[in-house]
Amino acid sequence: MDDSRQVEAPPSALSSAAAAERLALMRAWPTALDLRARARQLMPNFAFEYMDGGAGADGGIKRNWDALDAIELVPRYGKVIKPPPSDTLLFGRSYSAPIGVSPIGGPGTAYPGAETYLARAAQAARVPYTLGVLSGVTVEKAAEIAPDVLWFQLYRFANNDHKIGLDLTRRAQAAGVHVLVLTIDTPIRTVRSREVKAGITNPFKLTMRLRADAIRAPRWLASLARNGIPRFVSLNPYMPPNQSLEESSGFIKREQGGAFTWDEIAKYRDVWKGPLVLKGVLHPADAERAVSMGIDGLFVTNHGGRQIEALPASIDALPAIRAAVGARATLILDSGIRSGVDAARAIACGADAAFAGKSFLWSLGALGEKGPGHLINIYTDDIKATMGQLGCKTIDELRGVVTRHPGAWKARDFQA
Ligand SMILES: Cc1cc2nc3c(=O)[nH]c(=O)nc-3n(C[C@H](O)[C@H](O)[C@H](O)COP(=O)(O)O)c2cc1C
Repeated sequence: MDDSRQVEAPPSALSSAAAAERLALMRAWPTALDLRARARQLMPNFAFEYMDGGAGADGGIKRNWDALDAIELVPRYGKVIKPPPSDTLLFGRSYSAPIGVSPIGGPGTAYPGAETYLARAAQAARVPYTLGVLSGVTVEKAAEIAPDVLWFQLYRFANNDHKIGLDLTRRAQAAGVHVLVLTIDTPIRTVRSREVKAGITNPFKLTMRLRADAIRAPRWLASLARNGIPRFVSLNPYMPPNQSLEESSGFIKREQGGAFTWDEIAKYRDVWKGPLVLKGVLHPADAERAVSMGIDGLFVTNHGGRQIEALPASIDALPAIRAAVGARATLILDSGIRSGVDAARAIACGADAAFAGKSFLWSLGALGEKGPGHLINIYTDDIKATMGQLGCKTIDELRGVVTRHPGAWKARDFQA
């Protein structure tokens, strides 16, 4: 990594005010779940239900949480431990902690301006920010805000021989995006009952009911006034001009869908010159196949429990995937992360880093644009405390911690 990519420390005149604010936030909102509770009070109901709901009756979300909670880490004592550094190398680039922001489609529904606030916080803290293709800022704009930490996620736009997807890939490369992520775990559209009950439709329609919901949430509304109604602006060049929100949502419904096939993934491998990552792998044989065709990394994820309830908890699928790919791939664990302890569990079970989706949206709903930076501090402080308690001086040592992981799938479970 070249040094110019290191983010400058804030001038010391600012640091005492910043330190006081940091302390006040830590006292008021010490955990991600505190932010969730606050977000639920402050956000329009439809926005909270959109970001927080899972498939079915939230069984997948519960499984992710329970599986992480069940993992025990055994400490080693008897050595002097200073506050350990949490610096992490991912795809040859140095980040300040083994955490990152997962891609979120339509994050402006959860909190208007979300992409800008997430990108700024990630750049300031030097952790990866994955911009979803269905976002309210273009990939070029996100690269201006977060030049050192930007990853970009694509869904499958297969019409006209992937004209849109491959053009976006070239644009991301030209904008200086570090990592391209292809999401493969949405082969079909599924129903999230909490969205349905909250009145959200697909294509999206700004109904009277949703407007009435929003009026009861002044901070959300103020952010809407500042940032405008969220649009899928990366797709503007491919849509007819001056599309309403409903029309652009209809365009996406027509153009995007299905899961990338292996042949399609090979096409993107040819065009994209940087690190290429598949998001959604849960079976070791898929992991093996991806690595054998030159994929550099995998998100081991069940999409945060948002697709169907029966998928394994991501953390339970992780050890068998690490066993299959060895050191040939970078593994990102996502789904269910609510603390630095969870991130440490993920690393002890074979991940290189842990990313989160919902908790970053909770942070925005609770604290507005200050939320994501605060959540990164919560996670980073907690990772360091966990490492210190376990007797680990580096992230590498965390990988060697003895774990008990009762739900872990074994390689033999995958034999047909
Ligand atoms: C509101 C919302 C929208 C999402 N949109 C996308 C998306 O556009 N592309 C994608 O690959 N994953 C998407 N995801 C999944 C996240 O990238 C991530 O896998 C998931 O949120 C991780 O689980 P967690 O929320 O428990 O941290 C979305 C998640 C949420 C909560």
